[in-house]
Amino acid sequence: MTVVYLNGSFVPYEKAMVPVEDRGFLFADGIYEVIRVYGGKPFALQDHMLRLARSAELMELPFATSPAHLKEKALEALEQSGLKEATIYIQVTRGFAGPRVHDWPKDPQPTELILVRAYESAPKESITLASVPDQRWELCHIKSIGLYLNTRARMEARRRGKDDGLFVRDGIVTEASSSNFFAVHRGTLYTHPEDHRILPGITRRYVIRLAQDLGIPVKEEPFTYEWVLNADEAFITGTTSEVTPAVGLDHQPIGGGQPGPITLRLKEAYRELVRG
Ligand SMILES: Cc1ncc(COP(=O)(O)O)c(C=O)c1O
Repeated sequence: MTVVYLNGSFVPYEKAMVPVEDRGFLFADGIYEVIRVYGGKPFALQDHMLRLARSAELMELPFATSPAHLKEKALEALEQSGLKEATIYIQVTRGFAGPRVHDWPKDPQPTELILVRAYESAPKESITLASVPDQRWELCHIKSIGLYLNTRARMEARRRGKDDGLFVRDGIVTEASSSNFFAVHRGTLYTHPEDHRILPGITRRYVIRLAQDLGIPVKEEPFTYEWVLNADEAFITGTTSEVTPAVGLDHQPIGGGQPGPITLRLKEAYRELVRG
């Protein structure tokens, strides 16, 4: 059962409404998190709450309650749902505070939403990517609900017969439309450093730790589009995509068009980690 918690109460899905002048709706002035639930247990919930708090701080976005309170309610919502395989979506916006003006309200009434729903699909065996110019803002480390260019990257990739868009900015590969990107070259794992150009992915962080535990060298440094075309392996990471091999970029296969051995080891290790 889908469970909705909105501004302090649990409400039936059909009755969950926000005012038309909610600043999330008008200005995309809001932040969010998606948490994956495995066997009834949320994975890395605390990491997600810390990132939500950090996004709020970076956007000077107040909470009506607090991340700790939302965490408690998320667990309550999950319990009410009775779901074992699910996602928990949490969104906070600057809310409704009267007619539309650019000034932030002096007395904000943030909107807080938690949505728990069933998630029964599995990540794809592998995906292909299409490069797209990264025209997003310079604050990609904020998990903002302003995702137009992310959705456009996905659609552009689909139009070109690929599964997802891979952002390229000034020749440097940053991340995919809703996941982080890794490539393997001569046994070393590479990924874009954590800065304002990418989302500090929680899966990314866990995968880096797993690689280090497995003795795989990791370098968090920028690399170019051309370099990726010559990589031995590549994959994306994300809360729902987990570790998904990327076997092609534009018209070229990566790693002979097959998932590579390091990718598969990390995919397996990540599966074991999340399944406890
Ligand atoms: C742009 C972007 N990068 C990376 C990620 C992966 O982050 P996480 O592993 O925390 O899900 C996401 C997830 O939604 C994303 O939207």
